[in-house]
Amino acid sequence: MFRAKITAIGCYSPPRVLTNHDLEKLVNTNDQWIQDRTGIRERHIAEPDVATSDMAVEAARITLQQRGISADELNALIVCTVTPDMLFPSTACLVQDRIGAKGAWGFDLVAACSGFIYGLTTAAHLVSCGSHKKVLVIGADTMSRILDYTDRATCILFGDGAGAMLVERAEEGETGFIDFLNEIDGSGGDYLKQPAGGSRMPASHDTVDRKQHFVKQDGQQVFKYAVRKMYETSRDLLERNNLTAKDIAMLIPHQANKRIIMAAAERLGLSCDQVMINIDRYGNTTAATIPLATRDAVEAGRLKKGDLVVFAAVGAGYTVGANLWRWTM
Ligand code: UT7
Repeated sequence: MFRAKITAIGCYSPPRVLTNHDLEKLVNTNDQWIQDRTGIRERHIAEPDVATSDMAVEAARITLQQRGISADELNALIVCTVTPDMLFPSTACLVQDRIGAKGAWGFDLVAACSGFIYGLTTAAHLVSCGSHKKVLVIGADTMSRILDYTDRATCILFGDGAGAMLVERAEEGETGFIDFLNEIDGSGGDYLKQPAGGSRMPASHDTVDRKQHFVKQDGQQVFKYAVRKMYETSRDLLERNNLTAKDIAMLIPHQANKRIIMAAAERLGLSCDQVMINIDRYGNTTAATIPLATRDAVEAGRLKKGDLVVFAAVGAGYTVGANLWRWTM
C-alpha cells in the first residue's frame, strides 16, 4: 500500500459575471434576499460556445503546469460533472484527447455536489493500491445550461466553473489522504433532480414545453438534509480518527448556501477562521466548489502544508461525502 497526496490544484472560472442585480432584471428577486438567504453576490457564467469540457481542459492545463508535468504522464483522469458536454462520449474522453493524456484512461463521475469528493476518494485509492501514480480529478459544471431563468428559487443559486487536483503517490513520511466517509441515500432523489433527458423521460417537445430539462429542487428539504448530513459525516469522520474540531485547520465545504455551511460548522464547534466560504463570488458550481474553495484557501494562506483538512459535501441523489487529508503542498 502507498499513501496518496495532492500535489497541484488549478481552477477556471469563465470571465462573464452575473450579479444579483443582473438577476433582478430577470426574475422577481433582490440582492438583499439572495445575500441574506444564500450568501451569494455573484456567479460566473460560461459564454454560449463554452461547454463543460472547455472549462475542464483549462483547469487541467493550469494544474499540470503548476506541477510541471505533461499530460502524457497521467495514468487516469476522472471528470466529476452533472452537465457533461453530451451523455457519450464521456467528458473525460473529450478532455483526455484535448490535453493529450495519451497514457490515461478515465471516466465521468456523476455524484452532483459530492462529485469532487467522490473523485478524490477514488483517485486516492487508485494511487494507494499501487496501480496508478498520477490521477487527475476534475470537477466541472456548466449549471447555467440546465437552469430555468424564470424560476427565482433555483436560477439565483448556481454558477459555472471548473477545478482540478492532481493526486499522486506520497513520499516516505508524508501523509496526504487519511480517511473518507461517503454515503448515498436514494430516498432523497426526488428533492433535487433534472427529470428529463435520460431513458425514463427522453427529450420530446412535451419535456421541453414542461421545462423538464431544468433543475427542480425542493429547497427546504435539501437544506435540512444538507445541514444534518454535513455535520454528521464530518463529525463521524473526525471521531473515528480520534480527532476533534480543534485539530483541523480547515473545513472546506461544498458551497451551496452560506447558511448550510455556518449551521454545520457551528454544530461541529468550528470557528469562522476554520471554515472556507467563497460562495459570495461563485455561487454553487456543483462539482467545482471544492477545488475553487481550496484554491482560494491556499492562495489566502489559510490552508498550509501540514494542515489537516476536511472536505465535505451533500448533493443531489442524495450524495454525501467527507474526506480527511493532511495537506501536502
Ligand atoms: O448543492 C445542491 C444542494 N442544494 C442546496 O443545498 C440548496 C438547499 N436549499 C437552500 O439553499 C434554500 O432552501 C434556498 C436558498 C433554495 C431557499 O431559501 P429558503 O430560506 O429555504 O426560502 P424558502 O424556499 O422557504 O422561501 C421563502 C420565501 C418564499 O416566499 P413566501 O412563500 O414566504 O412568500 C419564496 O417564494 O422566499 C421566496 N423566494 C424568493 N424571494 C426572493 C424564493 N426564492 C426567492 C428569490 N428572491 N430568489
